[in-house]
Amino acid sequence: MSFRFNFDIETDGEDVETGGVETTPSVPVEETPDSSRIPAQLHSIHELISKLPPHIAFSPLAIPLTSSKTITIPRRELFDVRMQLMAEDNNPSTDTSQNFSAAFTDEDIRTNTYEGGLKSWECSSDLVKQLATDSEVWMNSSHRILELGCGTALPSCYILQTLLPVSGDQPVHFTLADYNLDVLRLVTLPNLILAYLYATNGLPSMDPSATEGSEETPEIELTSTLISSFLSTLQTHNITISFLSGSWSPAMISLIHGGLEYPSTAEETMHSLLLASETIYSPSSIPEFVDMIEYTLASSGKGYIAAKDVYFGVGGSVKDFVDIMEKKKWKWEIDVDTDID
Ligand SMILES: C[S@@+](CC[C@H](N)C(=O)[O-])C[C@H]1O[C@@H](n2cnc3c(N)ncnc32)[C@H](O)[C@@H]1O
Repeated sequence: MSFRFNFDIETDGEDVETGGVETTPSVPVEETPDSSRIPAQLHSIHELISKLPPHIAFSPLAIPLTSSKTITIPRRELFDVRMQLMAEDNNPSTDTSQNFSAAFTDEDIRTNTYEGGLKSWECSSDLVKQLATDSEVWMNSSHRILELGCGTALPSCYILQTLLPVSGDQPVHFTLADYNLDVLRLVTLPNLILAYLYATNGLPSMDPSATEGSEETPEIELTSTLISSFLSTLQTHNITISFLSGSWSPAMISLIHGGLEYPSTAEETMHSLLLASETIYSPSSIPEFVDMIEYTLASSGKGYIAAKDVYFGVGGSVKDFVDIMEKKKWKWEIDVDTDID
C-alpha cells in the first residue's frame, strides 16, 4: 500500500481567489457525538438515476496543469442545485433544503448533517492535477477505484473522462462515497454524466473562455435516451459504478466487501486506487477515515489524499495524519503545492 499526499500551504487565513472552488471548511469546533452520524448505505447507479432532476445547468471548470495545458471538467452549477432543493422544499416529504442551507452560506459544513460535498474544494483540483501528472501510475492498473468523501467528484470525473476514450478490455469499477445521499444524487452522479458527455463530445462549447461573462449557463436535459446511452457506454467500456452514503464506519467497510463481517476483507473487493480530497479536517473522524483506507485499499494499491497543511479552527492537519501513517508503517510521500490559484 503506498500513498501520495498532495497538500496546500495555507495562507494565514487570508481570503484567496480560488477559481470557483472552496477553501478551508469553516466548521464549529464543537463536535456532536458519533452516534448522530448517518449510517452507511449502498446505492446502485439505477437507484440514483431515478432521483435525477429533468435537466441540469453546468459550467466548465478549468484546471491549469502547465503554462500550455489546461484540464477542463464540466460540473453542475451550485445555483442549479439550490434551485432544485428549493423546488423540493415545496414537497412536504423532504427536509433536504433545511439540511443543506450550510452549503449556501459561509458555514460550509454542518457537522454530522452536511459535510461539505455540494461544493468543489480547492484540493480536489490539486488532486486532478496530480492524477494528470501520474497517469501512467493508474491508467492501466486501476481496476477498482474508490473515492472517499467524493462530493462533486472531480478526481473520479477526470479519470472517467480520461478512461472512456481508451478503455474497453479491462473491467473498471468506481465506488463513490459521500456522507450525504443527497450529495450523490445532486452533484456526484450529474457530474459523472457530464464527464461522460464531455468524453464523447456530447456537450455544447466547453471552452471556459467562450462561456466566461456569458449570461447563459449551458443546460442539458437528462432524457431517457441520454441516460440509456450513458449506461450503455459504461457497459461497452466495462465500467461499473456504485455509490455509498453515510459515515465512514465498519458498516461501510462491510458493504464494500459485499457484506462480509468487519474486519474481514476480500482481496477481490479491495481497491487498487483510493482518492480523497479535503477529508482530514476533523480530528474526530480521522480514525474512521484511516480504517477505511486500511480495510479497502489493496496492499499493492495506491492512495492519493489531498489536504491542506493545517485546518485552522477545525483541528485536522497533514502532520497528524502522517503520524498515523508512520505508526502503521505505510509507505508514503508528500507533494507540496505552493500555488495560490
Ligand atoms: C470538505 S468536503 C470535500 C468534498 C470533495 N472531496 C472536494 O474536495 O471537493 C468533505 C467530504 O468528506 C466527506 N466526509 C466528511 N466526514 C465524513 C464522515 N465522517 N463519513 C463519511 N464521509 C465524510 C463528506 O462526504 C464530504 O463530501
